[in-house]
Parts: sequence; C-alpha cells; structure tokens
Amino acid sequence: ARVDKGGHKHFMAKEIAEQPVVLANALQAYLSDDGIVLPEPGIDFDKVERMVMVACGTAYYACVTAKYWFEQLAGIPVEVDIASEFRYREPPISKGTVALFVSQSGETADTLAALRHCTGRADSILSVVNVESSSIARESDLALPIHAGTEIGVASTKAFTCQLNVLLLLALRAAEARGKMSNSEVATLLDELRRLPGVFNAALGRDDIIRETAEDLADAHDVLFLGRGLMFPLALEGALKLKEISYIHAEAYASGELKHGPIALIDHAVPVVVMAPRDHLFEKTVSNMQEVIARGGPVVLITDAAGAAEAGDDAWRTIVMPDVDPRLTPLLYALPAQLLAYHAAVAKGTDVDQPRNLAKSVTVE
Ligand code: G6P
Repeated sequence: ARVDKGGHKHFMAKEIAEQPVVLANALQAYLSDDGIVLPEPGIDFDKVERMVMVACGTAYYACVTAKYWFEQLAGIPVEVDIASEFRYREPPISKGTVALFVSQSGETADTLAALRHCTGRADSILSVVNVESSSIARESDLALPIHAGTEIGVASTKAFTCQLNVLLLLALRAAEARGKMSNSEVATLLDELRRLPGVFNAALGRDDIIRETAEDLADAHDVLFLGRGLMFPLALEGALKLKEISYIHAEAYASGELKHGPIALIDHAVPVVVMAPRDHLFEKTVSNMQEVIARGGPVVLITDAAGAAEAGDDAWRTIVMPDVDPRLTPLLYALPAQLLAYHAAVAKGTDVDQPRNLAKSVTVE
C-alpha cells in the first residue's frame, strides 16, 4: 500500500510519532501471557559462548546498545563490528559463536557480505530486519522481524527503536535461558516494557522544549554528544542523526573519554548534549558535564526528573524525560535524539526526508 505522511510535514516526523504504536505492535507479536515468544527454530542460548553483532549506520548503534544488554543481562561476551570492516578483516569465528546481523532494509551490501563470511563458520546466523523477504533475512537461520512498518525517511528512526526492542527481548530470553535472570525478574521487566509505548507517548509531549533547544542548536557548527553505559550508543546515534539531516558536524564520545581529547574543543560555540538518566553512572557523567560548563561550553542535559533536580540549573537547557527502568532508557532516549536532529534540520531548511548524498539502502559498496 502507498504510504503517505498522515498529516505530518515530513515522513521522518510521522515515523517518529508512530513509535508508540509500532512498538506496541511489535510487543504484541513477541509477547504472550507466558513471556517472550520467538519464531522457530529457537536458539539454545545456554550453549552460546560468544556473539558477534555486525551492521552499518544506525543499525550498528543498535548492536552497540545490544552488547551492553547481552553482556550485563545474559553474561554473553559480545563483539560488535562495522560490516565494512568485518567483511574484509575476515575475522576467525570460533565454535560456539552466534553471529547476529541488524539491517532495516535487509539488503545492505556490506552487512550481507559480513553475513556470508559467517555462513558455515558460526553456529547460527541470526538477523534482525524490517523487510522479511530481504536477502539478509533469507540467508539467516533465524530472522526476527522488527515490525516497524515501511520506513521512508532516509534517516532511520522507528526502525532503530524497533531494533532495540527485539534485541532487548532476545537478551532477556538469553538471560532467562542461562539462569542470569529469574522468570519473575524477566516478567517484571516485560511489564515495564509493555508500559513503554505509553511512556513514549508522554515523552512526545516534550516536543516543544526539544524544538526550542534544536532551534538554538541549529546555529552551531559543531556539537558534541556525551553518554556513558547504555547512553554511549545513544549519544553516537544522536550525533549521527544530527549530521545526517541538519549537516551540523556532530561527534559522540563516551563521557569518560572527554578528557582524552574532545575537551580541547570546548568553548561557548560548541554545544554539548549530555544524555544521562539518573542511573548508577549519573554522578560520573554530571562531573563530566561540570567540566564542560567550567570551560564555557553550553550544555543540553537530557535526563529525568531526579537527574534534573540533582544536576541543578547549570545546564544551558535541560530536557526532562519521563521515568523508565534504567535498562529501558535506550528505547526512550532515542526520541529526544531524533527530535533534536529533526527540528534542527527543519530550522535550517534542509531536505529532512532525503538528505543530500545519502541513500535509504546502500546495496552497492
Ligand atoms: C543507510 C541509511 C541509514 C541506515 C544504514 C544501514 O546509511 O541511510 O539510515 O542505518 O544505511 O541500513 P540498513 O538497511 O542495513 O539498516
């Protein structure tokens, strides 16, 4: 069926706003009253010794996020790689390795080539795709659909959150199978996840403050994004979104790396977006934020109510997100990252849905 903008100015805006609905649909597809339902053939996570996760672009940042989940929740060591590096490095794949590929289109040439390197070497090949008839899905032992619906905007939005959703469910299944989380611990987190579409909807109500912030950011030539733990990959994704559609140069660093280089760039003209819900790493990140403020850098703090209260009012702008379980923050904090980029691009008048030089699906090298 033909997809229209449904009253939105851009497909990207529509796809951002659709996230509560597509996430709810995806949860419906993967959850029953008894817990997580995966398509056959399942994976025997008890036997998995190691995972490699490979992708490009936004899908790669979904993999970086998943590494934290699989390692922390399920205790499986994960190596994450960019497909174009992985394929030519031809890394050795040891026994007990599950290879996982994430791709919205399922046709990205580098990701497909990386998958083919693992065929016959890895114990099994998993993929997380939006297009179920795609090459990557067909060449996998198990393809998990993300149920995002057609994504038209070149810059990926709803596909990213739906990728995160499936990767988290998979990590929880692995955690359960390996006895790292009890059934009731998983059930409690799944209840939180079922609430997430509603929380996401509430977060969409923060659009005005994010737009105002983005309009101020639109004049910048360079923007830094900082995050720790699960917020590090979200910072990477936030920087990618901003450069893709607004053409503002943006870089992301793990907050702890600030003093190893990027701090030299800080002055009043370089805004720093700090993504930091009030979790166990919050104080460390806030101290990095203070280092930026002390050098005159304008800080955009994206946090929750507790974080905002603790950080005080030193930040140039504070965007307060609803509260969510710390393990679910990547799904929610994708939203302000997307909206900042979207509104900055609209303020600059760029072609949001078809940014210059970029393609939706890169099927040639
Ligand atoms: C292109 C798109 C990105 C996407 C990447 C990977 O660069 O512009 O939005 O993240 O390809 O695409 P895939 O279809 O493999 O997820």
